[in-house]
Amino acid sequence: MNVPFKNKLMAAAGLLTVGALALSGCDGGGAGSTNTEQTESGDAAASGDAGEAECGVGMTVGVAMPTQTSERWIADGEAVKAGLEEAGYQVDLQFANDDIPTQTQQIDQMITNGVDVLVIASIDGTALSSQLDAAGAAGIPVISYDRLIRDNENVDFYVSFDNYLVGVAQGTALLHGLGLVEEDGTKAADAPKGPLNIEIFAGSPDDNNAGFFFNGAMDTLKPYLDDGTLVIKSGQTKFDQAATLRWSQEAAQKRMEDLLSSTYPDPSELAGVLSPFDGISRGIITALQGVGLGPTIADGLPIVTGQDAEIASIKLIADGVQQSTIFKDTRLLADRAVQVVQDLACGREPEANNTTDYDNGVKVVPSYLLDVVTVYQDNIESTVIESGYWTEDEVKSGVAN
Ligand code: BGC
Repeated sequence: MNVPFKNKLMAAAGLLTVGALALSGCDGGGAGSTNTEQTESGDAAASGDAGEAECGVGMTVGVAMPTQTSERWIADGEAVKAGLEEAGYQVDLQFANDDIPTQTQQIDQMITNGVDVLVIASIDGTALSSQLDAAGAAGIPVISYDRLIRDNENVDFYVSFDNYLVGVAQGTALLHGLGLVEEDGTKAADAPKGPLNIEIFAGSPDDNNAGFFFNGAMDTLKPYLDDGTLVIKSGQTKFDQAATLRWSQEAAQKRMEDLLSSTYPDPSELAGVLSPFDGISRGIITALQGVGLGPTIADGLPIVTGQDAEIASIKLIADGVQQSTIFKDTRLLADRAVQVVQDLACGREPEANNTTDYDNGVKVVPSYLLDVVTVYQDNIESTVIESGYWTEDEVKSGVAN
């Protein structure tokens, strides 16, 4: 944790205690002296939810999200905003249309406006150095949201899902769809001998998560590639060959079309495609159906994995078209981010459950990683519907209400 930020927040707590509510963006509402005194005496952790909220009440949090083209980021942004507002914070929420200059400008503006804390889901994890330098100089703590911001020391905390395990889950889902393993990853009794042809897609090379997803999936597929059960027929086995800039559905569709025409004169020889994100999956499926495969898995459409439990893909899974997706409950991630903001605002060290894996090139960033769940056709009900993430009607229509 960097020193200027700590100073600023401890100073903030002090200001509130003496009633000098001149803190940037602070209206002082509800900032009772009892709770701030508890903070200063180090007892805040025991003071319960109300006390936790009091420490930062009236502070402004800048929340920078990458895009509104994928519904997960809209849900993330709205959930973080709602959680922070409920806890008494002001929120400046911005989406950047997947455009790096737009995001850098938005964050510059937040810093100029005097936000007290930044929560950032970056577009390009290496493109925010001057913003983070400015945040560090101003003592503004930065929480890296879902995607790790790289190459700068002013990243105070990282909240995400276990990104390597997301990749393992995607690899396992592909193996399961091909009949090689059970849902839990154990070998299937009547597994086909192969060789089965697959192709692999990776996410955006400027997103730190993409490498974790790819490594988790490839480590899972490796034994089957090594013994010849699986074959990546195009020979495009490296991350750089498989990567999809900005997670673009159109780029994925184009690459799949190119792979089909270069490598699969008989498209029915393709058994499965590893896809790291539902948008990419839908691009792949369009290309596959475009050469006459499917339209469903039962009709011979190759197995296609995914990620994010986007409603359009959940419908495709329900319809037997996309095989799986990875459900990352963005409501839980948002709650965690709100908790971390509160911890920082109250001068507490946020709880981390990983302090080894997320080296951003300058330091290992303390992280809290959440679990994920694989969604197949047969567990849509018990995963995304029962948890209230999507309603039955939304799954039927494929459209979020
Ligand atoms: C997120 C994924 C998402 C992808 C594309 C990644 O950073 O972790 O959940 O599918 O970005 O938006």
